[in-house]
Amino acid sequence: MTLTTESTAVPQQADAAEGVWTRVCQLDDLQPEVGAAALVAGQQVALFRLLDGTVLATGNQDPFSGANVMSRGIVGTRGDIATVASPMHKQVFDLRSGTCLDDASVALPVYPVVVSNGFVEVRLPEGLPSSVVGRPRAVA
Ligand code: FES
Repeated sequence: MTLTTESTAVPQQADAAEGVWTRVCQLDDLQPEVGAAALVAGQQVALFRLLDGTVLATGNQDPFSGANVMSRGIVGTRGDIATVASPMHKQVFDLRSGTCLDDASVALPVYPVVVSNGFVEVRLPEGLPSSVVGRPRAVA
């Protein structure tokens, strides 16, 4: 199987039930605790590398403002929970579950990540509605 390192890579593996894995970048491309935005299979994803090397992926769209800014959020912790704070209104989200810690009725979508041979791979569900994945909103 041929793999590419571009974020627009053709999905390397499809599973109708579980979604599509896409190789997005190298682990070394991600700075610890500095988010990065990636376009994965046409969807905006925010990647976060924690200090322990764990990489987590959420949607890039701030559910409160609708802006695609989560990758520019401030990474931190609340207790044992790795978090990102929206740069818009500062709501804090659990990076693993996506749940907003300030309003549990709101959550970011979260996506499985694996680091394989130094490359970061993200799994997006197939057929995800655009409203869930942080596409830029049309301006009326
Ligand atoms: S939407 Fe821009 S500051 Fe709230």
